[in-house]
Amino acid sequence: MNKPIPNNFLNDLKPYKGGASSINGVDKIFKLSSNENPLGPSESVINAYNEAIKDITVYPDPSNSLLIKKLSQFYSINAKNIICGCGSDEILHLLARAYLSGNDEAIVSENSFAVYPLAIQASGARIVRAKEINFQTQINSILDLINNSTKMIFIANPNNPTGTMVSYEDLINLHKNLPSKILLIIDEAYIEYVNDNNYSSFISLIEDNNNIVVTRTFSKAYGLAGLRVGWAYCPDEVINVLGRLRIPFSVNSTAQKVAVAAVNDQNHILKSIEHNNLWLPKITKELDSLGYLTIPSNCNFILFQVSNNLSFDANHVFDYLCSKGLILRQMHEYNLPDFLRVSIGNDEANNLLIKSLKELSQ
Ligand SMILES: Cc1ncc(COP(=O)(O)O)c(C=O)c1O
Repeated sequence: MNKPIPNNFLNDLKPYKGGASSINGVDKIFKLSSNENPLGPSESVINAYNEAIKDITVYPDPSNSLLIKKLSQFYSINAKNIICGCGSDEILHLLARAYLSGNDEAIVSENSFAVYPLAIQASGARIVRAKEINFQTQINSILDLINNSTKMIFIANPNNPTGTMVSYEDLINLHKNLPSKILLIIDEAYIEYVNDNNYSSFISLIEDNNNIVVTRTFSKAYGLAGLRVGWAYCPDEVINVLGRLRIPFSVNSTAQKVAVAAVNDQNHILKSIEHNNLWLPKITKELDSLGYLTIPSNCNFILFQVSNNLSFDANHVFDYLCSKGLILRQMHEYNLPDFLRVSIGNDEANNLLIKSLKELSQ
């Protein structure tokens, strides 16, 4: 029978699976599965939300002008080169749609953010994975994979789910050695959390290079994952094509206004970073001392292996913590079934996590 047939390259596309947020039979839940800000929104952000909601009868500003103006002022960058999206996910998908098709290849690091392969596949192109060493993105493995079909490279810096980062020097080296027709996407979703002198944003390179894009998000340190706001800083040619391709109202009016309020409240961002700086080393140390194998993180989460010397596996740890109301992220989709990823939670969640892990090891 004749029927509508979708593009055949969509056959293998598996939908993105978000972190779980509920557990049957457990009332009090701490969601440590999606790297959100455990402190929640600040008071000024809640006030901005309550004010903005009054305007939901009218369409949002399609050009996101107030938000773009705020970002431009705050980061001292050109407003005309900023694009906002329904999360940075939307912009990553737009980039893939704009630059990839049939016979193209796009390179991602072996254990990189799950949205990149989805965006690449959805455009019909081929995903090429560059080998990592100790969960670190390797610039040389990426360079080795470049051929005439390579069109794009996606690098999360620092990376989810590993938490590792690439030094500025290494990234500059990668860029220097790239054929100029390859678009390098640097996803800086977790930049606020990095405490390493070898790290630096790539934003300042955009003005002088036409093949680099930097993406950012309001979903992590800015604590607005549910509002869905992300943005990117792009060279002229890229902003032009994305501007034509994008959906005009993808950032709703409330999201635009609340995001401006969030940028205005840098105290809350500092508090969030301080909270992370306190708990990230503390939880890492506890995991290490209980015999788990942790990957040193520059983010607001820790990837760890439930190593063979323990008498239980990752599924057991996941289930046990769920029974205590703590939802971690299982890593089966990332092909790391003996690993778990835990986001830094609030004080109560973190203390419960440590207590529960100790109980499990007794
Ligand atoms: C590396 C990375 N990039 C982008 C995103 C997506 O962010 P957004 O909520 O802005 O779509 C995430 C979310 O988990 C992420 O880990």
